[in-house]
Parts: sequence; C-alpha cells; structure tokens
Amino acid sequence: MADNSLSIRKVSGTLGAELSGVDLSAGLSDGVIAQIRAALVEHQVIFFRDQTLTPAQQVAFGKRFGPLNIHPYVTGMADHPEVMEIIKEPSDKTNFGGGWHSDTSFLERPAIGSILYAIEIPEWGGDTLFASQAAAYDALTPGMRATLETLNAVHSAGREYSAAGHSAQKRGSMSVVEAEGAVGEFIHPVVLTHPENGRKALYVNPAFTMRFEGWSARESKPLLDFLFDHCRQEGRTCRFVWTPGSVAFWDNRSVWHYALNDYHGQRRHMRRVTVDPVSA
Ligand code: SIN
Repeated sequence: MADNSLSIRKVSGTLGAELSGVDLSAGLSDGVIAQIRAALVEHQVIFFRDQTLTPAQQVAFGKRFGPLNIHPYVTGMADHPEVMEIIKEPSDKTNFGGGWHSDTSFLERPAIGSILYAIEIPEWGGDTLFASQAAAYDALTPGMRATLETLNAVHSAGREYSAAGHSAQKRGSMSVVEAEGAVGEFIHPVVLTHPENGRKALYVNPAFTMRFEGWSARESKPLLDFLFDHCRQEGRTCRFVWTPGSVAFWDNRSVWHYALNDYHGQRRHMRRVTVDPVSA
C-alpha cells in the first residue's frame, strides 16, 4: 500500500480520528507506521474499519509501536500470551473495562497504548467511550494546574483486581487471576507531560489511583473525587460504535476509556494487545 493513501477524519471536536486507506495486516512501511503514530499522539485515540487480523498479525502490528505487555492478571491466548481476549458471554453480567480508566497505571511502567480489535459485536450497544485527559488538564484554572503539577499519585491494582473488584469478576470466557497479598504500589505524576508532543494531561484514574503521595486516602478523596468528575465531562469525550473488524488504538498517556455494558444477553468478543514503553 502506498504511503500517501492514508486519510484522517476527526470524529469529535476534542479527540478521536478515523484513519482509512491502510490494511493493518500488511507489512506496513516505517513511513506509514510513523503517520499512524503521529495521528495517535495528536488525536489521542484513532479508529480503523474493516480490518482482518489474526492474533499473530495483531501482535506484529502492535510490536511496531513498542514491546507488548503480558497482563499480570488477565490470562492471554495460549499461543499468544500478549493477546487478551475480552469476551462478554450472553450469560455474563459484568463486562471488562466497564468503568473509566487508563490501562495498567498500576504498573511501574504503564502501557503507552492499547489496540483493541472487534471480532463479534452485539446487535446494539457495547460502544466504547473515550475522554481526553489532555483537554481535562487544559480546562483547569492556572491555580489548580499549578497545584496538581506538584503532586504525585499512588496507583495499585489491589482494589480493582481483588475478589470484589470489577475487573476480577468471573466471566464465562475470560480467565482473570485475583490480586493477592502485596501487589505493589507505584507512584506517577498527577500531570503527565507527553514524551512525544510535550502536551500535558491529567494522569489519575478511578480504577487504580489510591491516593496522593504523602496524603492519606481520606485527605485525598475530595480532590480525587473532583478530578474523577472533571475528567469524564461529556464535552471532552468521543464514542466509538463498533462493527466487526473495527480497531481502536488509544494513547493511555492522554485518554481514559469506558466499555459500556448495555447489551445484556448478547455476545461481545474483542482482542487487545497493550503496548509498553520502550525500555530506557
Ligand atoms: C478495555 O478496557 O480494554 C476494554 C474496552 C472495551 O472492551 O471496549
């Protein structure tokens, strides 16, 4: 495929763009990969339609952007441990990812991006919402921005992947290991400066942020509650309506996402690879 065939159409005023004219299963040139990466960083989440990807092809595409994560709690495919199958069966009540979050901030070196490919989509529902954390930062007053820039936050998988946590709930076709004992706490800045474009974004999330560094959970709660509410405001979101073969690629450094759970009794089957930062 020629490098100049890729076209980009924004899907909302704040974030998100649909890219067309590219076959992700093909051995793409470095030039096309650079265009996709630039679109990801600029638009924060990018979408592709009508793709056909084997797990090996999805792995190969993901690896063009960095090493792939093997999720510590969600068991990957037997032949491709980097590929998480995200499945809600008709009999399941709880979906995976059904709350605002960014991926793996509970790790020392969180994922930079996630690439989700749709295999089977319900007849209605099952959309994914995205919220720009860069726009959320921009919308704060200079005083609040300056305060937040002095803070770090403590992130952990301990709550979300505990027996009672949303992510660890039992689902018919997913194997999720519960977090046990000391799962580790990692400190990340509350305001993240994007390493590729220098844009600042809020980097807290309701699933994994426990408190501010040096603050108790009780002291942290009012400010975290304010931020969690601020960060999901509708005017800074976009919504992706899936069709089989669609791909969403989001930048975990600048967006939150939320998988809607509004399709009970139907099956939804996705495959995700998660891109880690390149080692220092
Ligand atoms: C996730 O949080 O990775 C799942 C998103 C989705 O299934 O739409």
